[in-house]
Amino acid sequence: MILEQLTRNRTHRSFTKKEVPTDALRKMIEGARVGATTGNTQKLRFFLVNDPATCDAAFGQVRFAGLLPWNPTPEESPRAYIALCVSNENLADYNPGFMGFDMGIAAQNILLIANELGFAGCIVASYNKAEFDKIVKIPTGYQSAYIIALGEPADTVTIVDVKDGDTKYYRDDKNNHFVPKLSLDQLILK
Ligand SMILES: Cc1cc2nc3c(=O)[nH]c(=O)nc-3n(C[C@H](O)[C@H](O)[C@H](O)COP(=O)(O)O)c2cc1C
Repeated sequence: MILEQLTRNRTHRSFTKKEVPTDALRKMIEGARVGATTGNTQKLRFFLVNDPATCDAAFGQVRFAGLLPWNPTPEESPRAYIALCVSNENLADYNPGFMGFDMGIAAQNILLIANELGFAGCIVASYNKAEFDKIVKIPTGYQSAYIIALGEPADTVTIVDVKDGDTKYYRDDKNNHFVPKLSLDQLILK
């Protein structure tokens, strides 16, 4: 069932030391490849990072779970990144709304395949783009817009009901993360 896969496909931010092989990352990009894009323009490019030293170096530029006074430790840091990139040339005439839409579809497809392969990840907007791009060596003429942090999950993530309208996610000290989701009746206007 697709709904079961979507429910299992949670954001994870704490990872084991298991490496994410290049062929697994390439399979994830297959998901992005077949996804919808504005006018089928396929302007996004993907930069794969799974070298342990580069992942370790890039980790300092990434901020996880901005709503919480918590960040993964270096020991539980991501073992791979996929940077969603756009060329400087395309950026000029890429409607920002459409770009975000294209990136969202690509990111979701990437994460669904990651999940099927036993990995998981986190879409990240809060990172120092200039420094991250420099550390991982994004090719000249391109820049990242979002990154997806990946690895074998070491935390558990559970969907819970929203209480008193509070959608803020929370985490206990045993690496259990809880994500409040609105009910169908709260979502559907009519
Ligand atoms: C566009 C976008 C940007 C995000 N940026 C970050 C981020 O910078 N850091 C982070 O830890 N999570 C980030 N997330 C993950 C969300 O916090 C996460 O999706 C949300 O808490 C719901 O959890 P769930 O994905 O398990 O449903 C981002 C998600 C999206 C869609």
